[in-house]
Amino acid sequence: MKEWTREERYRVLESAEDVRDLYERIKSSQYRQTYHVQPVTGLSSDPNGFAFHEGLWHLCYQWCPWGAVHGLKYWYHVSSKDLIHWKNEGIGLKPDSFYDNRGTHSGSGISAGGELYFFYTGNHRDDNWVRTPYTCAAKLTREGRIQKLSEPLFGPRDGYSEHQRDPKVVYHAESGKYYILIGAQTMDLKGTVLVYESEELLSGWRFKGQLKVPSYENFGGMWECPYIVNISGKDLLIFSPQYTKLPGRGESTNHNVYLIGHMDYDTVTFTPESDYRYLDYGFDFYAAQGAANVGDPDKAILISWIGLPDNHYPTEEEDWEGSMTIPRELRIRDGKLLQVPIQGMETLRSGKAAADGTLPRACEMEINADGGDLSLHLFTKEDGSGGLTIEYDAAKKLCVIDKRGMDRRFNEKVGEVLEMPLGNPLRKMRIFIDHSSTEIFVNGGEETFTCHSYPSEREHHYTLKGGSAEIWKLSASVTDDFVI
Ligand code: FRU
Repeated sequence: MKEWTREERYRVLESAEDVRDLYERIKSSQYRQTYHVQPVTGLSSDPNGFAFHEGLWHLCYQWCPWGAVHGLKYWYHVSSKDLIHWKNEGIGLKPDSFYDNRGTHSGSGISAGGELYFFYTGNHRDDNWVRTPYTCAAKLTREGRIQKLSEPLFGPRDGYSEHQRDPKVVYHAESGKYYILIGAQTMDLKGTVLVYESEELLSGWRFKGQLKVPSYENFGGMWECPYIVNISGKDLLIFSPQYTKLPGRGESTNHNVYLIGHMDYDTVTFTPESDYRYLDYGFDFYAAQGAANVGDPDKAILISWIGLPDNHYPTEEEDWEGSMTIPRELRIRDGKLLQVPIQGMETLRSGKAAADGTLPRACEMEINADGGDLSLHLFTKEDGSGGLTIEYDAAKKLCVIDKRGMDRRFNEKVGEVLEMPLGNPLRKMRIFIDHSSTEIFVNGGEETFTCHSYPSEREHHYTLKGGSAEIWKLSASVTDDFVI
């Protein structure tokens, strides 16, 4: 693994030419995705600024141009008309002011009054590397560029640690007010959310209070990327707690969870109606963000980073890593969250795959279970050995996913085997495979499992017992152009 100096990680991008060679080099990687948003060069992590505005979906991702390393973060901007076909737009935000001299960190977007606004964390560090986080804003110009405001909206809140970031702006229709949720850490190192309130988007922000979530006062050391949305009358709180291990999640200390309940903005209290659940059971899923301006009170649209903060992936050797998930539609039925692939994914189907046990590099698999145990091995060798194995035990209603059989192993210490308990007997799985990722949607989205997968040349087969499979090849839907 390459060792990066701080100077290398925090190098400022002077011109597009600085990364042209890197782009040319990684373009031909066998692991470049074809229908997932991925970094133009270097590393992509959290989704940012996800919003619908004047007929177009805007999305940015945390971007470190230089390689598979977390260093100076930019926002890289992509857009889409349908959430399926994506186009590179170039740099969204540059860390070029005093307030964000060491990174334009995560944040959100919202369309209001004919303008598209963005909120992000200016990651300021002084000469002694002491951090001050600022909550900053920007606007989309008529030319389609993102322009920052010269001054931050507010600085850090006293009485909390330096970990205060990831502003998620929420419009609360009942009160007609805007709220900003900030992921934070208390002085005694507990994860929390700080809530700010205003009638206007670019001024008047007041601290409303620290979010109270009964029973979750001691749940991880920092809550990154908080998000609250109302779906069909229920509130959904999503966040990424870190610095803690959680049951069934191996050695990982980074997680993405949700609570369903009721949010009272007046008392700044989120009252959960049931225990927390994992948003996704996979190895690599973090910092999920919902889109603003979806225009339907019964659904939200979510996108997430396929990756985890402390993990390392095989494409590090090629100086790039990371990808976004496909967008998901979220609904709440009978008090349960359902997550399904964005409507229209079927339009990428470009014909049935040969029924000979081979697995195309970009495909969708639909598995119908027979009702008993099921065994699905993806990315096996031709003789059916190895691969990423999914074993479903009908008596326990439990899937065990094991990646130890793959030629390329990674993050062994974090854990290579995970369990996904199902709420109902396994009926159906929709599986989306791209060159370096696998996303599994179980039983109409009752559970999901997302991970990176890097099959070697000989790992393009599968075996299935206990069910039937239909496989469609999927055509490319992201442009991988050099736009900086
Ligand atoms: C989550 C995170 C955010 C932060 C960003 C920096 O992965 O740590 O809290 O804003 O990444 O890239």
